[in-house]
Amino acid sequence: MATEDQSGNGGGVASATDTLTVTDNRTGQTYEVPIEDGTIRAMALRDVKVSDDDFGLMTYDPAFMNTASCRSSITYLDGDNGVLEYRGYPIEQLAEQSTYIEVAYLLIHGELPNQKQLDEWCHQITVHTFVHENVKTFIQGFRYDAHPMGMLLATVGALSTFYPDANRIMDEDVRYMNLIRLIAKMPTLAAFSYRHSMGQPYVYPDNELSYPANFLSMLFKMSESRYEPDPRLERALDILFILHADHEQNCSTSAVRAVGSSQVDPYSAVAAGVAALYGPLHGGANEAVLRMLRRIGTADNVPDFIAGVKEGKERLMGFGHRVYKNYDPRAKIIKAAADDVFEVTGTNPLLDIATELEKIALEDDYFVKRKLYPNVDFYSGLIYEALGMPVQMFPVLFAIPRTSGWIAQWLEMIQDKEQKIARPRQIYTGERSRDYVAMDARA
Ligand code: CMC
Repeated sequence: MATEDQSGNGGGVASATDTLTVTDNRTGQTYEVPIEDGTIRAMALRDVKVSDDDFGLMTYDPAFMNTASCRSSITYLDGDNGVLEYRGYPIEQLAEQSTYIEVAYLLIHGELPNQKQLDEWCHQITVHTFVHENVKTFIQGFRYDAHPMGMLLATVGALSTFYPDANRIMDEDVRYMNLIRLIAKMPTLAAFSYRHSMGQPYVYPDNELSYPANFLSMLFKMSESRYEPDPRLERALDILFILHADHEQNCSTSAVRAVGSSQVDPYSAVAAGVAALYGPLHGGANEAVLRMLRRIGTADNVPDFIAGVKEGKERLMGFGHRVYKNYDPRAKIIKAAADDVFEVTGTNPLLDIATELEKIALEDDYFVKRKLYPNVDFYSGLIYEALGMPVQMFPVLFAIPRTSGWIAQWLEMIQDKEQKIARPRQIYTGERSRDYVAMDARA
């Protein structure tokens, strides 16, 4: 890659258009780096050295602000223009016309299923919804007030012990069986965790119901012989599942890919995704939104709250996004779905506060300048609450559908010849080569 600097003054040489010419002013050496898909390979910079025994140049990118970690054909996201597509299909069309279970197929297989494929897929997922009875005993070991997301995180990881062959990740059939199990059992684990936190008996899956309706049944069924949710609520939950199914290389997906790159089984990799999603800056944000709305109390308090945010006292939860610098397309769809839900359940008074917050923030210079718009979490919590979910369940409701996205990304990663175990570099800033100091000689 290195070329001698022919200009003699550190300038670049003429080069093909799809390259980047870099001059190392330490040596005067000029390098030509290929540009492919709007990126350069970080490893190309390793050739940039001051001497033969120099390690070579690295890139420093905390939080991966400008680093593509993979090639992916699953989810397309244009944050500036508010575009989100799964396998090329716009999220708006999928939310309107598809179902979560079909979207899960699409994410994993890359194409929409025909009727036969869809029937088979639904059947496979439906017949794997039950979990081993020992899982119940495992969940019973948690304290009565354990957070359901903490329980979900532990139980999905524990599934690897029930399916020890899941670590044969290069076996296509084994892989397929376990991805079916993951999608099928996540709602069961989530519902059992919820019932445990409520001190209620666990409800077994009802395989006659749809994916979202079965989940609602496992959450809310009491003594009735069959729980059948209002179809409008069932559909609203399915839409929320569709919207949350994948979002390219976000924090939890990167965690799944990084952990999965060690070739661990998919249950353990998905547990890492659940852990990442637990955080308030990621899947915990909708829980934080609801707590924030409750704290604000009434729409009159919104201006004071906004003033506090602008002074840096806290963040307006449910606003801002690392990638979207425009209205999150999912937030628009959710806002519309909220109307359908409130028609059934009656309106949530927190909606007035949320609407007022959005109105003020969208006009305020602080938010406009920073391109802070409502994200998916701003309204989702209001719908979840209307569906009867306590706030601790919100991140769990995100983890259930995101499982199909995590698995699709995990499958893509383990079959990508360019991928290896994830292992970033560092810039070491600590002490070096110190002699150990005996305790009695320390200050
Ligand atoms: N409220 C107030 N100010 C904000 C907010 C917010 N929600 N988000 C960003 N800012 C400000 C931030 O203070 C900074 O200002 P300055 O330049 O003066 O220091 C600027 O905007 C850029 O923020 P950043 O923290 O550098 O942006 P980021 O890309 O690292 O953070 C984010 C993205 C989502 C973590 C952040 O916007 C945030 O904390 N939002 C609230 C939490 C939230 O709603 N998270 C859900 C994300 S969507 C669901 C998901 O994908 O998980």
